[in-house]
Amino acid sequence: MKTLIVYFSFTGNNKTLADAMGKDLRADVLQITEPKKRAMFRIMLDMLFNRFPKINELSIPWEQYDHILLLAPIWNYLIANPMKTFIRKNKTYLKNYSFITLCSGRETQNEKIAKQLKRLAAYAPQTIIEFEILKLPTYEEQKNSIYKVTQDDIKTFKQQERYQRLLSSYSAKKEVLQ
Ligand SMILES: Cc1cc2nc3c(=O)[nH]c(=O)nc-3n(C[C@H](O)[C@H](O)[C@H](O)COP(=O)(O)O)c2cc1C
Repeated sequence: MKTLIVYFSFTGNNKTLADAMGKDLRADVLQITEPKKRAMFRIMLDMLFNRFPKINELSIPWEQYDHILLLAPIWNYLIANPMKTFIRKNKTYLKNYSFITLCSGRETQNEKIAKQLKRLAAYAPQTIIEFEILKLPTYEEQKNSIYKVTQDDIKTFKQQERYQRLLSSYSAKKEVLQ
């Protein structure tokens, strides 16, 4: 049995994290893409009208995976809309999953994400982890623009205890199942 990482990324941060986690966990990595090219204006409309945008079909052999990691940005305190569509579409398969985000980082957000997952998914996530750009030592200089994480930033996140814990819990389960 394997771990599957499914991610959505608009500016590339969650893609960078998904790729790094894919290597660490030796997991398969799939990207959620959209038939329509996304621009900032559409993010605003999606947020405003709580939309579920169309996403391209992903053919997933669910029976091969025992853990699913979902990665996506947070937009206005909530999970980015294309990931929302994915979760709602596949909720019956998402039994053992976690939600991970590389986001700016806002207080009380974790609770909002948990509530949102409760509404969208059939099961509760194993864990919700926010890796927060605002806590990066390099972020201060970049405050006014969309910050793109570097490989050094990813290293910083990886040193966090919760990343290590996540890694060891997933590899431990893998060993038990092998
Ligand atoms: C329109 C918009 C709204 C956002 N709102 C939030 C937010 O409420 N909380 C947060 O932590 N980050 C917020 N962010 C920051 C993104 O989550 C962050 O830049 C993320 O790393 C982008 O991921 P991506 O590069 O994979 O698309 C927002 C970004 C955009 C563009």
